[in-house]
Amino acid sequence: MTVPMIEMRAVGKSFGTHQVLRGLDLDVARSEVVCLIGPSGSGKSTLLRCVNFLESYDEGEVRIEGELIGYDIDADGRRRPMAPGRLRKMRCEIGMVFQHFNLWPHMTALQNVVEPLRRVRRLARDEALERAADMLKRVGLADKAGAHPQRLSGGQQQRVAIARALAMQPRLMLFDEPTSALDTKWASPRMWPTASPSSTPAASSLRVRPDRCFTRAANRACGSSCRPTTTAMRSEGIGAGCGCP
Ligand SMILES: Nc1ncnc2c1ncn2[C@@H]1O[C@H](COP(=O)(O)OP(=O)(O)OP(=O)(O)O)[C@@H](O)[C@H]1O
Ligand SMILES: [Mg+2]
Repeated sequence: MTVPMIEMRAVGKSFGTHQVLRGLDLDVARSEVVCLIGPSGSGKSTLLRCVNFLESYDEGEVRIEGELIGYDIDADGRRRPMAPGRLRKMRCEIGMVFQHFNLWPHMTALQNVVEPLRRVRRLARDEALERAADMLKRVGLADKAGAHPQRLSGGQQQRVAIARALAMQPRLMLFDEPTSALDTKWASPRMWPTASPSSTPAASSLRVRPDRCFTRAANRACGSSCRPTTTAMRSEGIGAGCGCP
């Protein structure tokens, strides 16, 4: 049996008394593109951040290619935090485009893409520069390589964030509202494959959206009735389940 890229089982997450995720089950297969839809505040970003353990989950399990992320289980069955080195290694294979882009403001667009290639992928300078320049070209920003984020529009910043994540060629991509600042040309599913992880063999992606308009590019769209539910999605009855366009 093939091990899923992401396997979430009975995941729960609370902020104080506010329970955001409850009993959440979700599988994403290798090479699969899954779009998760839910209203503002329903826990989409929290869910994505639990997948790469930027946010710790309180209950359940999150496995990436079969390996539990964030925790080790000791001989007594108790959870303890995973060794930082192992967590870093797992995260190397998980790219993320953040909802608010999280570009480094003191670096140019090119440097934003080059830096993780050098630090995390340990690419030689020339190779990192070449790959970064190519990615910026693919997202239509070759002429903005030398610009700092504050000199870029929101959509341009978002495309730098997409280029930065895809340049790392991770096995799994997490997109937090990846087209929120893009115009219709760049948000179009027709444009997406030119910069999508589906061009990387075996890459999977989990995308979140507040609505349905980007789900045509996905293999599957999920909402409240297909088990990957958050507390707020369930109460608002959003989504029509798996297999929707
Ligand atoms: N660090 C935090 N501390 C306390 N509450 C938080 C924290 N992060 C998120 N929340 C709360 O958890 C809930 C879910 O937030 P989250 O950002 O996951 O929603 P979302 O579905 O991504 O919303 P949006 O579509 O607006 O981005 C919200 O009510 C939010 O206020
Ligand atoms: Mg969000």
